[in-house]
Order: sequence, then structure tokens, then C-alpha cells
Amino acid sequence: MTKRTYENETVRVLWDSERCVHYAHCLRHGQGVFDRARRPWVDLSLADTETIVSTVEGCPSGALQYERLDGEVGEIPDAAVSIVPLWDGPLAIRGEFEVRDRSGEVVVTGPRATLCRCGASKRLPLCDMSHVEVGFTDASPTDPGNDR
Ligand code: SF4
Ligand code: FES
Repeated sequence: MTKRTYENETVRVLWDSERCVHYAHCLRHGQGVFDRARRPWVDLSLADTETIVSTVEGCPSGALQYERLDGEVGEIPDAAVSIVPLWDGPLAIRGEFEVRDRSGEVVVTGPRATLCRCGASKRLPLCDMSHVEVGFTDASPTDPGNDR
């Protein structure tokens, strides 16, 4: 498990590798800020603050989070909780929620997380990418429009 923080004068980006479900929203929308082929993989100098925070807010798993350092308001979770099945993968949940394990312990809270849909995760109820190993496929005949 890797946790890293990256910051400039306006924003601190936090990354938790264990939560990443590799849907690549950050790679496609971050104007080069996020690049897996580069070390470090996050370079905040490549985009303005609004681009960075909107990209982070699009991370379905919550692997990416941010804190504003410029006094601006940070991410406000959606008031309504929504759940969207990602193509051949987990359920993306957004909003002001708490996810608990079998013992009732809170394992993750909003604004974003991805929940296992295949049943094979070793970190239930969160997705841990085991759906790839078990070959989980989505029975939906059409792409529901996930941003993958
Ligand atoms: S958007 Fe989030 S879940 Fe998707 S690849 Fe980036 S860090 Fe991982
Ligand atoms: S959906 Fe990802 S581990 Fe089950």
C-alpha cells in the first residue's frame, strides 16, 4: 500500500494506491498532471488549480483526494448518494455516505468510493481489483457511459 501527498501553494493532492481501481479518469482529464509512466507520477505544475481539483473529484474510487491550501472551499460531497456500476467492474458510490464492514466498522466515507460487485475482493466491501483476476464481466449489452 502506498500513500503519497503532492502539493503546491494552492492545493494538496493525496493518493492512496490501495483504493485505485485503474479507471484512468485522472490520466485522461488531468492535462498531464497524472502520468503513470513518470516518477513522481503527479506533477501539479502542469495544470491550474481548478483543473486539478475537478480531475480529483472525478476519481471514482476516492484514491485521489485534495485539500485546498488557498482558503477556497474544498470538495463538497453530493447531498444525494448515487451508485453507478462501472463497466466490468465495481459500483461507484458518490455522496455523503458511510460504508461499513460486517462488524459495523466504518471503512470508508464519502465523497467517493468503489464497492466490489464481483464478490471476489479481499477487502470487502471495497473493490480491490480482484474482478480482473476472476474475469468478471458486465452483462449489460451497451456501455452505460462510464468514464473509463
Ligand atoms: S481516477 Fe482514481 S481510480 Fe482512476 S486511475 Fe486515477 S487514481 Fe485510480
Ligand atoms: S468489483 Fe472489483 S474486486 Fe469485486
